[in-house]
Amino acid sequence: MIPPRLVYKAPVLKILDQRLLPHRTEYVRARNAAQTARAIRDMVLRGAPLIGCAAAWGFPLELRSRRASSWHGTLASLRKAAAVIKAARPTALALFYAADRMLEKAESFVKAQGAFSPKTHGELIKVLEREAAAITREDRSACARMGELGARLLGRNTVVLTHCNAGALATMGIGTAVGVITTAHSAGKITRAYSSETRPYLQGARLTIWELQRGGIPSELITDNMAAHLMKTAGINAVVVGADRIAANGDTANKIGTYALAVLAKYHGIPFYVAAPTPTIDLSIRDGRGIVIEERSSEEVTFINGRLVAPKGVRARHPGFDVTPAKLITAIITERAVIRPVNRANVLKAVRGAV
Ligand code: MRU
Repeated sequence: MIPPRLVYKAPVLKILDQRLLPHRTEYVRARNAAQTARAIRDMVLRGAPLIGCAAAWGFPLELRSRRASSWHGTLASLRKAAAVIKAARPTALALFYAADRMLEKAESFVKAQGAFSPKTHGELIKVLEREAAAITREDRSACARMGELGARLLGRNTVVLTHCNAGALATMGIGTAVGVITTAHSAGKITRAYSSETRPYLQGARLTIWELQRGGIPSELITDNMAAHLMKTAGINAVVVGADRIAANGDTANKIGTYALAVLAKYHGIPFYVAAPTPTIDLSIRDGRGIVIEERSSEEVTFINGRLVAPKGVRARHPGFDVTPAKLITAIITERAVIRPVNRANVLKAVRGAV
């Protein structure tokens, strides 16, 4: 079993510190929105759906952490909380989705109230706690549904490659891409799963392979530069990855290196699947060119385990994500429908529920 990723016990959110995994299980405590945002920015937790769930808990935490005497002050603090949370990481839509949803919930509650009172303020906190719990529940059930829908796409004797960590550690459920793999494994379909290590942050090496191992799935770790060779020689017949943001035409931002895998999969004739819940789809963005790509520190590239591995003073690039064009994606697995072929019309149908 994977340890609980988030434990909310008012007035504290305990966050599993994924920077220490797989060797140590420790928790960081957040008591307000700024501390929640800091944990997200500092990668204590990561993975699009999980940071969305944590962001949601940041709102009731914020209200519990301060004295309130008016609705005006309460809403001002929640608007500030939303801005701070959204600034933590730019690419994953889940963060923005959760912050907007929580803020809207608070605004509509306040609109329906009369004068401010400590009692109604207490009710607002409860309303926000229920909403954060609902976001968590929805994530859990979306993961389960994507697992079922995605597993149906895989045949017997699947040898699958996944990238980064789109597993339980990236969600509050069984994961997106890894959820598809574990569900297919339960159905006896997985011969072997490969996880690429995912330089420079090593989510594949530290997190995904650990999850696969714990799930009893025959698995092997590879470095990122082994993917082409293994697609040619190891019988890989499916690639499944997660997503941080999907544009209206299906172009998909996911962890840096995903685009390279999609190009390689195309060359080798291997189906390339993206598993992501609908709150990952951003209909306001026409195509991948509009997706903001997080630029992270160059030290994460030049240092390994605190040791400089490149010449002193070298400049290193570190885009955290890349965009895979829709035409390289065989299907997008959402909790509502499998989008196939991946194009604007089908993306729209899946989001609006008409598939
Ligand atoms: O930088 P990270 O570790 O937050 O990046 C995570 C990924 O890219 C995942 O593939 C993505 O969030 C999908 S998670 C279900």
